[in-house]
Amino acid sequence: MKTLIISDLDNTWIGDNVATIALQNKLLANRDRLSLVYATGRSFASVAQLMRDFWLVTGEEMLVPDYLITGVGSEIYHQGILDYAWASKISQDWNIEGIRAITRLYPQLIPQPDTELNPWKISFRLHPTANTNIIDKLKQDLVDKNLAANVIFSSGRDVDILPKLADKGKAAMYVREKLQISLDKTLVCGDSGNDLSLYQHSILGVIVQNAQPELLNWYYQHPNNNIYYAKSFYAWAILEAIAYFNLVDN
Ligand code: GLC
Ligand code: MG
Repeated sequence: MKTLIISDLDNTWIGDNVATIALQNKLLANRDRLSLVYATGRSFASVAQLMRDFWLVTGEEMLVPDYLITGVGSEIYHQGILDYAWASKISQDWNIEGIRAITRLYPQLIPQPDTELNPWKISFRLHPTANTNIIDKLKQDLVDKNLAANVIFSSGRDVDILPKLADKGKAAMYVREKLQISLDKTLVCGDSGNDLSLYQHSILGVIVQNAQPELLNWYYQHPNNNIYYAKSFYAWAILEAIAYFNLVDN
């Protein structure tokens, strides 16, 4: 039975290059018994750039994943091709224009560059002086207008609005079913608010030591033996969790 590792990129897989390389060497030695998925907030193009930069800086290649979940679960790629079945599934009840009209009423929301948007993801930066309670107000406004959406707040700054049926966790479970890997052989790894949905399924999880408060607060409110808050940082935490859960043999 294969093991599935689903990992966030920024500040989890990536962040300490020595750790990333140590982790990758461990996984490479077991590659045939592993499936690997990156689940990131970045766009597809931005992941490609991250992979290129990693190679430029370290001289090592990042592992090529079996699936790539981008835009916080709004897109899934397999061998560079968008999964249209996922796209059509999450398009149900998704009224992007209606949602955009509401967000224009919030001057505290600064639009992210177009390169980070896609047909299923609207993203903003919260103005540094804005009160974070406007996120709850925005959620309520969308409910009041019958606009189904998933509003995800990360790193005390990023605000992503996705279809109700899309987040990293749901995308991860969709991919896991395709790969037919059991829940107890699936490990998810992350550090911030957009990773929270990864831990809301009956799988194994690791939270890196350097996690953001919004994820840690949730973790402390939802104690769960299958979720391990690592002592180490960045990719070292994934290595720590692999040993803790006894997932990869050598
Ligand atoms: C990445 C994406 C950005 C998103 C953030 C949090 O930084 O580029 O669009 O808001 O992740 O999900
Ligand atoms: Mg991250």
